[in-house]
Amino acid sequence: MHCTRIVAPDIRYVGSSDRRLALFESAFPIPRGVSYNSYLVMDEKTVLLDTVDRSVSQVFFENLEYVLAGRPLDYLIVNHMEPDHAATIADLRLRHPETVIVATQKALDMIGQFFTAETAAPFRAVKEGDILETGKHVFTFVTAPMVHWPEVMVTFDKTAGVLFSADAFGTFGALSGNIFADEVNFERDWLDDARRYYTNIVGKYGVQVQNLLKKASGLDISMICPLHGPIWRENISWFIGKYATWSSYAPEDKAVMIAYASVYGDTENAANILATELAERNVRNIAMYDVSVTHPSVIVSEAFRCSHLVFAATTYNMGIFVNMETALADIKAHNLQNRTVAVIENGSWAPASGRLMREIFASMKNMTVLEEGASIRSSVKDSDLSGIKALADALAADLN
Ligand code: FEO
Repeated sequence: MHCTRIVAPDIRYVGSSDRRLALFESAFPIPRGVSYNSYLVMDEKTVLLDTVDRSVSQVFFENLEYVLAGRPLDYLIVNHMEPDHAATIADLRLRHPETVIVATQKALDMIGQFFTAETAAPFRAVKEGDILETGKHVFTFVTAPMVHWPEVMVTFDKTAGVLFSADAFGTFGALSGNIFADEVNFERDWLDDARRYYTNIVGKYGVQVQNLLKKASGLDISMICPLHGPIWRENISWFIGKYATWSSYAPEDKAVMIAYASVYGDTENAANILATELAERNVRNIAMYDVSVTHPSVIVSEAFRCSHLVFAATTYNMGIFVNMETALADIKAHNLQNRTVAVIENGSWAPASGRLMREIFASMKNMTVLEEGASIRSSVKDSDLSGIKALADALAADLN
């Protein structure tokens, strides 16, 4: 049995998808599943570009052997050593002792760490700009450290104009036969997951992503083959544009996100009042989340998308309510910059969450913290409304 598709002349998709995994990297919910992409180039020499996660290894090996049809596997190019792509290298070595592994020296070291030094042999270490000729195809290697690990490189097939981009340009979401972005409604069905994947997996490394985009702009790319999600052969510049926005920490949309943490509904009430006041001021597409219900990875992703962020939190154990504290720590850890933020605090005897949230924003780059907001004692009173309305005025003035 096999499930492979032709990507381009000589290039076959031999990866697969997992719809059972609940948490990617044991951290991120993936209700739409995830794909682990692998590509096989059938040239005078045969070349496999990355393997797959252990969960889909059976179908991967069936695909691989079907396309190889008894030929040896001459090369395995390892662009990224994270186990979601590299877990099956040792199994591959058992099946194909003839295969030369091609990767950066750092990746070689990691093969030794994850497996044994013997697993890596035979091995060819490559550097930026090195060339591998396999007959018709000429591959060159571009290092991409910290997109998303230090050993990462991407591989450009100069013959076919195909960039094998490792984690870059990947997304959460299982592939359902349609392996090309132009075969699905990407903007409607995939973009939110692509943003959540980018921001949570490599969002911290914007500078390194910008460096890769700079290098990629010098290549004549007709197709991008990432290790997760659909392949790009149309409208490539649109998706590269998204990466340029996300990696420069520029807001994608002029929009407000209100994230709140509320134990008994009173802080939520303040958030609802603010949202209503904003709507009355013609602010559209307000995004509002209860951080105790919505996973932090969504809050991080939405914070990258929206230009204006309001955080409303109760005070808890003299600190910020725990789920809000987690969300804010996550946003800070992913290096978010260049946003306008505001806070609403609540506290029944010693409100402190507002000051503590402001301290977090002060430690981040280029965050404009609005003075307007409210400090609520237990429940919203008429006397709190002026602060909430003033905040709505300030946000609406900025947005409209
Ligand atoms: Fe998809 Fe960094 O691994």
